[in-house]
Amino acid sequence: MAPMPSLLLLLLWGSFSFTLQDWAAPRYNVSLDLPPEQRWKAILSHYNQTYLKESMEFVYKSSIPKWVQAILLPLAEIDLIFLVREPYAGEIRGIARTLGTSVGYILGVNLAYEATAYCTSIIAQDTKGNIYHGRNLDYAFPEILRNLTVDLDFIQNETIAYTGTTFLGYVGLWTGQSPYKFTVSGDAREKGKWWENAIAAFFKRSSPVSWLVRDVLYNARDFENAALQLSKTPIIADTYYIMGGTQPREGLVITRNRGGPADLWPLDPQRGEWFHVETNYDHWTTPPPNDDRRTPAIKALNATGQANINAVSLYKVLSVEPVLNHITIYTTTMSAAFPEEYSTQIRKLI
Ligand SMILES: *[C@@H]1O[C@H](CO)[C@@H](O)[C@H](O)[C@H]1NC(C)=O
Ligand SMILES: *[C@@H]1O[C@H](CO)[C@@H](O)[C@H](O)[C@H]1NC(C)=O
Ligand SMILES: *[C@@H]1O[C@H](CO)[C@@H](O)[C@H](O)[C@H]1NC(C)=O
Ligand SMILES: *[C@@H]1O[C@H](CO)[C@@H](O)[C@H](O)[C@H]1NC(C)=O
Ligand SMILES: *[C@@H]1O[C@H](CO)[C@@H](O)[C@H](O)[C@H]1NC(C)=O
Repeated sequence: MAPMPSLLLLLLWGSFSFTLQDWAAPRYNVSLDLPPEQRWKAILSHYNQTYLKESMEFVYKSSIPKWVQAILLPLAEIDLIFLVREPYAGEIRGIARTLGTSVGYILGVNLAYEATAYCTSIIAQDTKGNIYHGRNLDYAFPEILRNLTVDLDFIQNETIAYTGTTFLGYVGLWTGQSPYKFTVSGDAREKGKWWENAIAAFFKRSSPVSWLVRDVLYNARDFENAALQLSKTPIIADTYYIMGGTQPREGLVITRNRGGPADLWPLDPQRGEWFHVETNYDHWTTPPPNDDRRTPAIKALNATGQANINAVSLYKVLSVEPVLNHITIYTTTMSAAFPEEYSTQIRKLI
C-alpha cells in the first residue's frame, strides 16, 4: 500500500536538515545632493540606533587585530581627513555622530568588511544577448549582518545615479549598478598578511576595494570606462571585480592585484563561454576541495542552459548548496539594461 501523500511529504521533509527563509532587503534613498555628513541620518533613524552602535562595536572588536585598533582609533580621532578622502570621510563622521560612537570604530568597521568576503559572483549571457549578473555575499557575523543589509538608490538631482547593496554603517559597495551602463560585484581574493598589506596601502592613500566600486558607479561613462578604472586604480587588497554590461559579450572578470590587473577574463559566448563563475580563487586554478563552490555553480548553470538563463533561474543557481551556505547573507540579481529589476534577498538557512 502506498503511503498517504501527506505522510510521504512529511517523510521527505524530515530528510532535510534545514529549511530556507528569504526576505527582501529594505530599500532606501541616499541623497548625493546632501553634504556627506547628513546623507545617512534619515536611513539610520529607521533603526534601533543602540542596536546599530552595539553591533558595529562588536564587529570592530571581534574582527580587527589589536595592533590595527591601536593605530586607527587615535589617528581617526585627530582628524579623519588626513586618512580618508571625501565623501567617505564626511559620511563616516556623520554616521559616528548619529550613532553616538567613535569615528575610529566606524572607520575600523569599514576596513574590517574589506577583509574576508567569501562570495560567489556569476555573469551570464542568454541566447538573445541579454546579460545577467548575480552574486551571493558570504561573511562572518551573518546573524548581525542580515539585519543590517540594505538596497540603496543614490539620488542626485531627482534621478538614480546608481544603486547598491551594503550593510548599514558601511559606506562602500560590494554590489552595485549604474543604470543602463553596467553592474559590478566584488569578491575577496585573500592572501596572507591581509591586514599588514591593506593598512600599509591605506596609509599610502590606495582606495579600499569597495570605495572604488562606488567611485566607478558614480564616475564611469560606460562599461569599458568602468572596466578600465576597476582594472588600474590602486586598491588596498587583491580582489576580483565582476562586471556585466548592456550589450552582448559585455561580461568580464577582473582579477586584481593591489597595484593593477593580474588577469582579464571576458565572456566569449561564440566559443561556448556564455557564463563565468568567480568565487574566491583565480579562475585558472582549481578551487580547494574543502571550499569548492565553483563546480556546483557550473553544474547548475550547465543544467539550466543558455536558452533558460534569466534573473529567476540565476537566483536558483545561487540557491544551490554550497553556493548558498550558512554564512550567505544576501543574494542580488541585476541586469544593467533593466535597472528596475535590481533585487536583493536576504538568505537564511535554518
Ligand atoms: C534597542 O536595542 C538595544 C540593544 O540591542 C536593546 O537593549 C533595546 O531594548 C532596543 N530598544 C528597542 C526599543 O527595541
Ligand atoms: C535581527 O532583527 C530581528 C528583527 O528585528 C530580531 O528579532 C533579531 O534579534 C535581530 N538579530 C540579532 C542578532 O540581533
Ligand atoms: C537637474 O535636472 C534638471 C532637469 O533635468 C536640469 O535642468 C538641471 O540642470 C539639473 N541640475 C544639475 C545640477 O545637474
Ligand atoms: C527616491 O528617490 C526617487 C527619485 O527622486 C523618488 O522617485 C522616490 O519616490 C524616492 N523614494 C523614497 C522611498 O523616498
Ligand atoms: C559544463 O558544460 C561544459 C560544456 O558542455 C563542460 O565542458 C563542463 O565539463 C561542464 N561542467 C560541469 C561541472 O558540469
